[in-house]
Amino acid sequence: MKRVLVTGAAGFLGSHLCDRFIKEGFAVVGMDNLITGDLKNIEHLFKIGEFEFYNHDVSKFVHVPGNIDYILHFASPASPIDYLKIPIQTLKVGSLGTHNLLWFCACQKKPEYWLLQHPRCMVTLWCIRKTKITGATLTL
Ligand SMILES: NC(=O)c1ccc[n+]([C@@H]2O[C@H](COP(=O)([O-])OP(=O)(O)OC[C@H]3O[C@@H](n4cnc5c(N)ncnc54)[C@H](O)[C@@H]3O)[C@@H](O)[C@H]2O)c1
Repeated sequence: MKRVLVTGAAGFLGSHLCDRFIKEGFAVVGMDNLITGDLKNIEHLFKIGEFEFYNHDVSKFVHVPGNIDYILHFASPASPIDYLKIPIQTLKVGSLGTHNLLWFCACQKKPEYWLLQHPRCMVTLWCIRKTKITGATLTL
């Protein structure tokens, strides 16, 4: 069974991705520090054996025991209100968080990954744009 890591799993997009990948027959590892997310979004998954959850800040480091086949990186505050409330955490997750996930990819044996960060917020705040660009540059 393929195993996918979803960061930002308790958020809006991440929680739907967890649902979708469980439905598609994947084992799903959700990771989230709940800074803007809510466990209510994924509580229905806790009874499913193929779902695991780590309450963890990806800006610090990323490690998941066992093999991971795919990574979907959706950990990031997503609204201008949150950017202004928690600007440092937003910058850290877009830069250090992305860097840590890339490092985790590099340490895995199977280099077969998706690393996604949607760029909608590039048009909102300059500093957020810089963070997303930093994440995109690190990915390249
Ligand atoms: N919602 C949209 O319509 C939309 C559209 C395009 C792009 N995006 C992008 O998708 C991503 C997620 O958006 P969303 O709407 O799901 O936001 P969200 O706030 O609902 O979810 C983000 C999740 O990331 C978690 N998180 C934040 N920092 C973290 C960290 N350091 N470590 C671990 N978890 C952390 C939060 O707790 C939250 O659960 C963002 O990058 C956003 O810019 C969102």
